[in-house]
Amino acid sequence: MAKRSIVSDRVAKIGKSAIHEMTRLSRDVEDVAFLSWAKPTSGTPEHINAGAIEAIREGLCGGYSGNAGLPELRQEICRKLKRDNRIDADPSEILVTVGAIEGLSAAVMALIDPGDEVILPSPTYSTHVRQVVIASGKPVFAATIEDDGFVLDIDAIRAAITPKTRAILYCSPSNPTGTTFSEKQIRELAGVALEHDLAVITDEAYEYFTFDGHEHFSIGSIPEMRGRVISCYTFTKTYAMTGWRIGYLHADEELIPQITKAHIPLAICAPVVSQYAALAALKGPQECVGKFREHYRSMRDLMCERLDRLPGVFQYAKPSGSYLMFPRILLDEGRDSAAFCKKLLREARVSTTPGSAFGPTGEGHLRLSFCVTAEEIDKAFDRMEQYFG
Ligand SMILES: Cc1ncc(COP(=O)(O)O)c(C=O)c1O
Repeated sequence: MAKRSIVSDRVAKIGKSAIHEMTRLSRDVEDVAFLSWAKPTSGTPEHINAGAIEAIREGLCGGYSGNAGLPELRQEICRKLKRDNRIDADPSEILVTVGAIEGLSAAVMALIDPGDEVILPSPTYSTHVRQVVIASGKPVFAATIEDDGFVLDIDAIRAAITPKTRAILYCSPSNPTGTTFSEKQIRELAGVALEHDLAVITDEAYEYFTFDGHEHFSIGSIPEMRGRVISCYTFTKTYAMTGWRIGYLHADEELIPQITKAHIPLAICAPVVSQYAALAALKGPQECVGKFREHYRSMRDLMCERLDRLPGVFQYAKPSGSYLMFPRILLDEGRDSAAFCKKLLREARVSTTPGSAFGPTGEGHLRLSFCVTAEEIDKAFDRMEQYFG
């Protein structure tokens, strides 16, 4: 009799992460130019570190907090949601989570039964696909419109709906494309969700990083959407707090206890020291956020300028948000983006991420991160100019 694997089919069918694979391969390349990670390179601002250190000294961090998070943190989050997202929230509607990622996982777990379909405008963040698969749901990809800068294709979303569709999960500004979905499009998407009685889960990790007058819009601010939206946020990007693992979500007060049932077995509560750091982030000066935004905007401009000097190799849409972009590879060999990325790493010593990691419409592209220094971008593009030249 054939021996059955001890690993669940659900997990076994998840492929290796292309992002981690490129990181691993990059370690063997001396002096690599690294454009593979969507991770802030700046350190956490000092006043945030100080808030955490003070809480440790006061002996506040040794125990669990309530499952939903510290009351004073949830209060501050409500202020921020009102000010920046136009969401009127009560602290009872906030769940503090282990980064946006745990919030998203708990949200998907709370909404999705085995076989339920979740529509992902794609290319999409690879982790979202995995979250749906781990919940035994079925990811359904609805292509965005690349020629218009990867904007939502509302007709494609409508066409993807079946009787099994339960939710739409999207991130804006987008990882991997850098597109900020407009308020108009998000309102149209809300109309579709209302018409078909669907839930919406958002990943708003890059909410503060939009450029050229593009503004982030939260679907959770639309009053009619109350009760069907779970909005997920994080401190990771806004305040360069990747390692603190702290985020939160907002949903209406009937949904929160259900999502909390999924949150407890995943985390019990978010790390308490990080909750104090998050409190310091929200209560402290906000200049750091503007500084990060300005840095990313100027790195985006530099990357676009350098891409323009490589005619015939890539074609790109200028990102309106996040710190990522997703050029199409114009060369024949780019049809297999994973092979292309590995070759580029081996032969030009430039580390990028293959587009195939971001759903079927990602193939033939590369994801480039401009969350790096100008020197890193110049190093990578000097090498590519020589390599493709
Ligand atoms: C769209 C998106 N969501 C979430 C995350 C991670 O968020 P967190 O660190 O808050 O879990 C990332 C990190 O790259 C991301 O790109």
